[in-house]
Amino acid sequence: MNEQIVILDFGSQYTQVIARRIRECSVYSTILRFDTPAAEIAKLAPKGIILSGGPSSVYAEDAPLPDKAIFKLGVPVLGICYGVQIFAHFLGGKVEKGLKREYGKGTLTVADPACALFEGLPEALQVWNSHGDKLTRLPKDFTVVGTTENSDYAAIENPHKRFFGIQFHPEVAHSPRGKEVLANFVHTVCGCGKGWTMRNYVEQAVEEIRAQVGSERVILGLSGGVDSSVAAALIHKAIGDQLTCIFVNNGLLRAREAEVVQEVFGRNFKVRLQYENATPLFLRKLKGVTDPEKKRKVIGKAFIDVFQAATKKAGQAKFLAQGTLYPDVIESVPIAGNPAAMIKSHHNVGGLPKNLKFKLVEPLRCLFKDEVRQLGLELGLPKEIVYRQPFPGPGLGVRVLGEVTKAKCELLRLADAIVVEEMKAADLYYKTWQTFAVLLPVRSVGVQGDERTYDFTVAIRAVESQDGMTADWVRVPYELLEKISSRITNEVRGINRVVLDLTSKPPGTIEWE
Ligand code: XMP
Repeated sequence: MNEQIVILDFGSQYTQVIARRIRECSVYSTILRFDTPAAEIAKLAPKGIILSGGPSSVYAEDAPLPDKAIFKLGVPVLGICYGVQIFAHFLGGKVEKGLKREYGKGTLTVADPACALFEGLPEALQVWNSHGDKLTRLPKDFTVVGTTENSDYAAIENPHKRFFGIQFHPEVAHSPRGKEVLANFVHTVCGCGKGWTMRNYVEQAVEEIRAQVGSERVILGLSGGVDSSVAAALIHKAIGDQLTCIFVNNGLLRAREAEVVQEVFGRNFKVRLQYENATPLFLRKLKGVTDPEKKRKVIGKAFIDVFQAATKKAGQAKFLAQGTLYPDVIESVPIAGNPAAMIKSHHNVGGLPKNLKFKLVEPLRCLFKDEVRQLGLELGLPKEIVYRQPFPGPGLGVRVLGEVTKAKCELLRLADAIVVEEMKAADLYYKTWQTFAVLLPVRSVGVQGDERTYDFTVAIRAVESQDGMTADWVRVPYELLEKISSRITNEVRGINRVVLDLTSKPPGTIEWE
């Protein structure tokens, strides 16, 4: 079993960020619900426990509280923000409503440089606070190890028990040296090594896949996206020809997507690749459909039909592999007022129905996206796939506005390829969250050469984002926009106008649909 740190989630929007920061220290971390029984936690033999922040007050009627026995497990505990209140609540301290909500940047003055958390750090640290209630009496056997402008008990320690409480958030970027605080906790205090790396994980996962699958056959729906691609490469490494990948070309892919998948997986990796060209079927089903929701439904259903038929063709397989990631399996803590609880549940059409009679192989279940990319590189996948931008399941179906036809898809593919190519040449493509072209259902008059035209309009959409939930439009340099625009209008017959989308999300969405 990997050495690990258990993070108890009290509903902080930053819980997953804490988990990722710990993993960046090459230490495995697991997120559990705040009320997981101590006996269950003990089974994982964690080297340390972190209590996340949370939006509650320990005095609230329905305040989330942990099993008190976690303090008797004999492992170090680090309470962050609300986690400090938990110490106070259980171990004899006192919390009161702060007169002023401490929110934003602050300076932590280290009161005890001998405290292991602050090893190698300066005496004054820029930190990020976000809490209303604050500690007014120390829990039993705790001492003060740090103060801020607003709090005499900003960092506290019980050195004997190895319990630490910090009111600031070390996991966010606004606490520039916070990661070192976390690193000190996991390495110096908890004694964790640096065994969690994707190189090590490959070996571990290969063994686990072999043990799970035995001599049975596995099928995997390969979309060309990062997750399914990395899952395919990993499973193929473990079981070779026992894996069959099914790739459905729905006619709504971008330029060269189908070719790249065939090249990388078919020719390079020698994966058994079953290529299903279902373009005519999808386009037939989409004929005359203009409503965005209806288009999604049509595409989703056609995909399921094609995939199910393809699995039958692939022969007897007992297992279905999926590129499910850790954020999809973490049980979210639905605490009132917690925006993190609402994130998710967005569109994920294009998924498979639950009633497929397969057992699941999900070798990325415990990984975050950045780890999956790292794993992809470790397995030798090209940058084009590993750093691929998010691409919606319904593909160009949501980027050709109005009715989707073969001709419109082709126009959009040509224009989109120019956008991508020029952004790559300017070294901007992989720095943006998504950059693509949208074909608008608008025709307007133009003049090309001596000819009057009446052609379509393309919009350029380039956004920066952390997670797709909010986004800002990218300030693409004018010279580059000029180049893209003139190339599109010169090279793509049928498009005579290029516009730029200047809308952030909210109020806009990333895709136009
Ligand atoms: P919106 O357009 O809602 O998109 O701002 C947010 C993110 O989700 C992607 N997206 C999808 N992904 N299936 C997916 O797998 C879909 O149907 C879908 N629709 C939108 C979008 O590209 C952006 O990254």
